Amino acid sequence: MTSLLSHGIEVTAMGEIRRIGILTSGGDCAGLNAAIRAVVHRAEGTYGWEVYGIQKSTQGLLQRPPAVRQLTSEETYPLRVTGGTILGTTNKGNPFAFPRADGTVGDCSEEIIEGYRQLGLDALIGIGGDGSLAILRRIAVQGGINFVAIPKTIDNDLGSTERSIGFDTAVNIATEALDRLHFTAASHSRVMILEVMGRDAGHIAISSGIAGGADIILIPEIPYTLSAICNYIQRLQEGGRNFALMVVAEAVRDENGEKITHTHALGQCRLGGIGQYLADHISEAAGAETRVTVLGHVQRGGVPSALDRLLATAFGVAAVDLIAEGKFDHMVSWQHRQVVSVPIESAIAHYQAVELDGTLIKTARAMGICLGDG
Ligand code: F6P
Repeated sequence: MTSLLSHGIEVTAMGEIRRIGILTSGGDCAGLNAAIRAVVHRAEGTYGWEVYGIQKSTQGLLQRPPAVRQLTSEETYPLRVTGGTILGTTNKGNPFAFPRADGTVGDCSEEIIEGYRQLGLDALIGIGGDGSLAILRRIAVQGGINFVAIPKTIDNDLGSTERSIGFDTAVNIATEALDRLHFTAASHSRVMILEVMGRDAGHIAISSGIAGGADIILIPEIPYTLSAICNYIQRLQEGGRNFALMVVAEAVRDENGEKITHTHALGQCRLGGIGQYLADHISEAAGAETRVTVLGHVQRGGVPSALDRLLATAFGVAAVDLIAEGKFDHMVSWQHRQVVSVPIESAIAHYQAVELDGTLIKTARAMGICLGDG
């Protein structure tokens, strides 16, 4: 049985999948559009479903009528190579404590659920990181929404998946930056510090640092001392090296254990500044001219790597298949060279930091890379 709502979208009978929604949430990254493309292709081509793209995460569901548009395979074909997200996204404004126009803060989850119902959607795919997926799952449970998740984050810190969309591209960009810094560092006999993103985890730093030939890699998971870093630089100098490459994750703290942050004009507090802190303290102590490059949002933009396109495509297809199987409240995940599904609850419950006894840390130490701890 179907009915037509005021904005022209039919509501389908319970239990039958005919129309699904998709949204992207949290910080953008490369590969989101490739996942959207795969979802549309699989849903439309294999199952004959309609796919509606919701604008700017749950914010699109707060608008009346909700801000959505139908996506078609034809339109989404070029998306495999485009950066960002055609749907828009946001990493602020928790719906359970949402800032309203009148200055108050309130819970707008019921309005979001009502927006979803007005669209007559039978299921929803959310592409997000740990914070976004926790919020989306809470809304889905509250509203009885058939919800399936796809993991994305350059930080790669989401539990229960070895990889999230966007991480590989970010690592490639940081690696290329180190490759470029190498030659200018050698030309000027400098210590070059590259500050990379990653939120509270050091995945981008450790991966790009090994791949990009860094001499020193600092990650939040391993406490460091300035003296260990300076001694290491001096040993490099004594060994005949006239430069050093260092990569530092944005969440590395100062020597007193304090996080270094920056508050933007609109009040958002973000990590950033550890690179300059290190430069200021190392220059004199190590007697080395030092420069800092903060890679910033360059890591999130641009053309996705082949690996991120593959991951996004496999995840998009698998997420649609989960809906077809009625396996809701699950996230697609990459484990042991294939896509599996895991309960969203378990993925968001486990923060994936860099494993101190893992292969990457062992490899870095075996290569003589200084991790700041001795
Ligand atoms: O979570 C992704 C991420 O890029 C982090 O690595 C970084 O700390 C943060 O988002 C930056 O957020 P914004 O885009 O709001 O500056």
